[in-house]
Amino acid sequence: MSTTGRYTITAALPYTNGPIHIGHLAGVYVPADIYSRYLRITGNDVAFICGSDEHGAAIPMRAKKEGVSPKVIIDKYHAIIKKSFSDFGISFDNYSRTSAPIHHETASEFFKKMYEDDKFIEETSEQLYDPEANQFLADRFVTGTCPKCGHEEAYGDQCEKCGSSLNATDLINPKSTISGAKPVLKQTKHWFLPLDQYEDFLKEWILKGHKKDWKPNVYGQIKSWIDDGLRPRAVTRDLDWGIPVPVEGAEGKVLYVWFDAPIGYISSTKEWAAREGKDWEPYWKDKDTKLVHFIGKDNIVFHCIIFPSMLKAEGSYVLPENVPANEFLNLEGNKLSTSKNWAVWLHEYLEEFPDKQDVLRYVLTANAPETKDNDFTWKDFQARNNNELVAIFGNFINRVVVLTHKYYNGIIPTPDTFSEVDEQTLKELRAYPAVISSSIERYRFREASQELMNVARLGNKYLADEEPWKLIKTDEARTKTVMYVALQIASALATLSEPFLPFTSSKLKHILDQSAIQWNDVAKKEVLLSEGHQIQKGELLFSKIEDSDIQKQLDKLEATKKANEAENKAVEPQKDTATFDDFTKLDLRVGIIVEAEKMPKTKKLLVLKVDTGINTRTIVSGIAEHFTPEEVIGKKVTVLVNLAPRKLRGVESEGMILMTETPQGKLVFLNPDEDDVNAGAVIS
Ligand code: MF3
Ligand code: ZN
Repeated sequence: MSTTGRYTITAALPYTNGPIHIGHLAGVYVPADIYSRYLRITGNDVAFICGSDEHGAAIPMRAKKEGVSPKVIIDKYHAIIKKSFSDFGISFDNYSRTSAPIHHETASEFFKKMYEDDKFIEETSEQLYDPEANQFLADRFVTGTCPKCGHEEAYGDQCEKCGSSLNATDLINPKSTISGAKPVLKQTKHWFLPLDQYEDFLKEWILKGHKKDWKPNVYGQIKSWIDDGLRPRAVTRDLDWGIPVPVEGAEGKVLYVWFDAPIGYISSTKEWAAREGKDWEPYWKDKDTKLVHFIGKDNIVFHCIIFPSMLKAEGSYVLPENVPANEFLNLEGNKLSTSKNWAVWLHEYLEEFPDKQDVLRYVLTANAPETKDNDFTWKDFQARNNNELVAIFGNFINRVVVLTHKYYNGIIPTPDTFSEVDEQTLKELRAYPAVISSSIERYRFREASQELMNVARLGNKYLADEEPWKLIKTDEARTKTVMYVALQIASALATLSEPFLPFTSSKLKHILDQSAIQWNDVAKKEVLLSEGHQIQKGELLFSKIEDSDIQKQLDKLEATKKANEAENKAVEPQKDTATFDDFTKLDLRVGIIVEAEKMPKTKKLLVLKVDTGINTRTIVSGIAEHFTPEEVIGKKVTVLVNLAPRKLRGVESEGMILMTETPQGKLVFLNPDEDDVNAGAVIS
């Protein structure tokens, strides 16, 4: 069991460009809440910190789309998100926002301190510029092909496919997301954080330090970035939405959103401390404080490389003790997507299932994407509710409470001597706090939730074996002992469920009238509920979910799918006129795929050998999710043979195979399939 300590626990600040969905809850906020609640009830000093991330390109973009000001957008979603968190019992000590004055001050000071200590490189360089929108392009304002994995919709700061952190100028074939224009290069001045100078520090701290016990997905990603070599990274932007760069000669520039947002953890802590009359500094500067960041996997680079380098550069802060990042949750087999409305929105869930916050918390924990991406399905949701929460947990509690009222008017009976089974059952019960603690302390929340359910299983089995409802007819003394033991298990459940199922726990504590029983008591105390103690009338903790409730949700998703398909069918507008000369520049040939294999360690890429008639050459193609290597060997395809070669994952690709896509997203080759066309035949 953990010793008492001070913890600063942060959960990623959500962007206020939309409401939040089950993916957010499963990946970040439920695990962070379980961890924080657990540490609090085991006697630690906890600051559980979050807030809204209100800068960055996504916000003005959304504002533009809705024809309102960015302020309208952040106010709207800040309120919706904050309410969702509180509705689901996410027990933040403070939920702030990065538009708050205290945050602007804190982030500006942080920048200024680094600036004065000469921690930045000031450099005028060529950056991408949209000649139509008259704006510099970085981050979400520009997409292009990822130089690392070939994903075609990588953003200017990050590829969401492979997680690489990028500079906008790294993108192959960049395109403005504002106007669609091809960017030009234009000079501008920025401040760079020379991450290359922090390589030794990061190696020492993470690779050589004790961080090997970090989750393998997190450790592996960091290691590969450091091994690849780090480069200076601009921490300012030419934008009009954000925190103004607080030094001279920086008019019209703001801090990069990933510079200001993590500082939001600090500002939110300050806001909380001021309200509570506490000192914020020990929570960030005392070396005994454990700083833990809960995030999704797309945030790893920012929390494990950039922010720690900033903290190190500033000089007075502690570094994170752990960054237990989760993988992604899918919904019914497809990636969750805000823009495609493929999500279960928390505020909508509550309209359908108003008293089932804990059910969602439980399902998302039991099926959390801890070590790999996972799928949320409504059938699984129903099964976990009906077969576990109702049939095991709820059923056990209900029987104990009903029988205690029926036999003893709700007063805990005096036990007779304990049988061996009783002793064994109580012994098992007393072992659970340590078992669950150990899982939680290792960030294994799925495992922890299953151990909690095992406590209820223990109780259920005990009742089923001892059958007090039969005993009562023959042996009153033994019945009292059995009910007494069962009540101890019920009481343990009320306490141990608190981190996972806070609403249920508080109802159950109310029924059993046991506000004073602590986590550690379950292991140590002989008696949790003493004889003579009066319990309250029961209420049902869980209720069955019917097939029709589930069907309704599935129908809703089906409708979303249909709407998306209809939208996809809309024909793309014709591109600008190409002259005949433009066209003849393209050398299109018939090719035959003669060999194919998967590119190691990628999902999307096949490495093909294509006979183009001219020669047999290597072409890397992003089709591995649609075709197996065996399927494509022997296929005749259309190849653009004079495309400038480019390297993908270290393999040089010489050409491009032409494809098209069905409305369902299936790729198909443009193949000249007459028998007597030969490789090398010119297409004109
Ligand atoms: N808003 C970011 C996202 O949703 C997370 C910001 S985390 C912080 O991906 F560290 F910057 F706060
Ligand atoms: Zn990539």
